Amino acid sequence: HRVLVLNGPNLNMLGTREPQTYGSQTLADIEKMAIAEGKTLGLEVTCRQSNIEGELVTWIQQALGNFDAIVINPGAYSHTSIAIHDAFRAVALPVIEVHLSNIYTREAFRHHSYVSPVAMGVICGLGATGYRLALHALAEKL
Ligand code: DQA
Repeated sequence: HRVLVLNGPNLNMLGTREPQTYGSQTLADIEKMAIAEGKTLGLEVTCRQSNIEGELVTWIQQALGNFDAIVINPGAYSHTSIAIHDAFRAVALPVIEVHLSNIYTREAFRHHSYVSPVAMGVICGLGATGYRLALHALAEKL
């Protein structure tokens, strides 16, 4: 099975960005780990990151027919993007939403996600481990 791992805005700055909140691993570290974890699970993992909402929407649309599931950390677009919500509805692929931090212990504006209602599951607060757990869940479900 093929899994697309998407990361949204500012996640390209992981490693230097608020390490006390998001950890010290870079996005490259996390992507490498996701690809390696995928291999052990028999999943072919492709990773992409964008700071642009529309680009994420296009990648979600293009996933139809090319990927079996999506793991996404939508970053701040989680809390704002009806377009990403609609894109997931349109493709109807299994989606797992991941957040590095526990969004519920943080500012109120992070407590709501437009992605969660269209996700198969949501993982937050476990750091980079969340991506690995998401892949495990997909390996079982697919
Ligand atoms: C985040 C949480 C979001 O609220 C924030 O805007 C991010 C990262 C996380 O991984 O914890 O950019 O998605």
